[in-house]
Amino acid sequence: MSVNIGLDVGTGGARAVAVDEAGNVVAEASSGYPLHSPRPGWTEQDPADWWDGAKAVLGRVASEVGGEVDGIGLTGQMHGSVFLDSSDDVIRPALLWNDQRTGRQCEEITEKVGAERLIEITGNPALTGFQAPKVLWLREEEPENYASLSRVLLPKDYVRLRLTGEYATDASDASGTLFLDVENRGWSEEILSALEIPPDWMPEVYEGPQSTGTLRREAAEELGLPPGIPVAAGGGDNAAAAVGTGIVAPGLVSSSIGTSGVLFAHTERFKPDPSGRLHAFCHAVPGAYHLMAVTLSAGGSLSWWREAVGGNFDEMVGDASEVPAGSEGLVFLPYLSGERTPHLDPEARGAFFGLTARHGVPHMTRAVMEGVAFSLREGLEIMRGLGVPVGEVRATGGGARSALWRQLQADAYGEPIRRTAADEGPAYGAALLAGVAAGAYGDVGEASSVVRLREEVTEPDPGRAEAYEGYYRVFRSLYPATREAMSHLTELASGGEGGSG
Ligand code: XUL
Repeated sequence: MSVNIGLDVGTGGARAVAVDEAGNVVAEASSGYPLHSPRPGWTEQDPADWWDGAKAVLGRVASEVGGEVDGIGLTGQMHGSVFLDSSDDVIRPALLWNDQRTGRQCEEITEKVGAERLIEITGNPALTGFQAPKVLWLREEEPENYASLSRVLLPKDYVRLRLTGEYATDASDASGTLFLDVENRGWSEEILSALEIPPDWMPEVYEGPQSTGTLRREAAEELGLPPGIPVAAGGGDNAAAAVGTGIVAPGLVSSSIGTSGVLFAHTERFKPDPSGRLHAFCHAVPGAYHLMAVTLSAGGSLSWWREAVGGNFDEMVGDASEVPAGSEGLVFLPYLSGERTPHLDPEARGAFFGLTARHGVPHMTRAVMEGVAFSLREGLEIMRGLGVPVGEVRATGGGARSALWRQLQADAYGEPIRRTAADEGPAYGAALLAGVAAGAYGDVGEASSVVRLREEVTEPDPGRAEAYEGYYRVFRSLYPATREAMSHLTELASGGEGGSG
């Protein structure tokens, strides 16, 4: 039976899963690496750490399955910028998807391309996390590094270069650069020329299940894998997770809570949100697209809160589940890293609102989780408003494994929540894409047909869902009411310079 590996170059670490043709996970391995924040609002990682992490997990999985592997598929954190010189050496640490330093470059891109035209071509407005403003930042802030730039890659595609020797990406991940003509699934000459970026810095764009090259002999020997096996293009982490949760047809929506929170809806055609609050990207399904709402600090908010109070995760969530819906009048805004959907504001800031002497840590833990669910609900409402059919919501990411997170999503959305049997996320989807590249499946539809759902369904509780309507209205009113104060705080905290914080 064919076995394929999916490799996820995540923010917290690398993860590999080996999946057999029937969809069973037969081996898995994870390995963490550090995230650096040299200044507030800046996030960076060393691509060498990704490569070391990737080798560690691929090697472990390969040895568990006795080296019998037919293909590898890649996925990973989106939007990051790997800057390479002409010898393929990394010039400086990569800037990540949640880095907020490029506010000024985003304004510059919007001015040069035009706000409407940018959404027409790329499906998105200029956002600080995306790759293009990072390249402009390098040009403006580190000209000596820019002078030696020869290639720009996304995180997983740096690992691909080390595995195959090829400069390649896939259409879903490329959508997060702001250089892609999303409808036509190729680099936009108009944007590259407006921003004066040489087209030959860009990797070749493939569809998710296509092979982008084969595993190099030296890498194969080091990893204990067969040389020459195909390395599939794969997908950005959200698109790959969608394949792994079977979100490959209209009406299906996934709700993922990891570090970030993502609502993902499959669409057959490219139909961007004219206001740019939702991302419109290519899917890892050839020819298909998706709409996506992103809450930057979802599970990240809960991790921050747990670290801040030094508590035990399971105990804290257990205590929070005893608190009534609405946390007895406490609301949390999860804007710890600024926010994407719907505010598109790097200066948005987090808050507890409604504190009284009655509130303790369990209330605050619950409020943090409710705030994340409300933030995701805002994305769902925009989708509904754009006429996107929401027939079934499937939970994925770490949040899918928590009964309280699942219930909060069901109650806040007013929708039943389903969950897949494998519960694996991006790496699983990447393994299915590898299976297509290796010939185990005819296409992504056939590959995704191995995705099985659990019997269990988390139904919304009518009483709590009704209570949440009122709290959701309060939640929605808070950002517009405090936006100016948030921006002022950002300015004060950055020493009065304002800007990207
Ligand atoms: C999506 C996004 C995040 C990262 C996290 O636009 O920025 O989901 O991909 O891995």
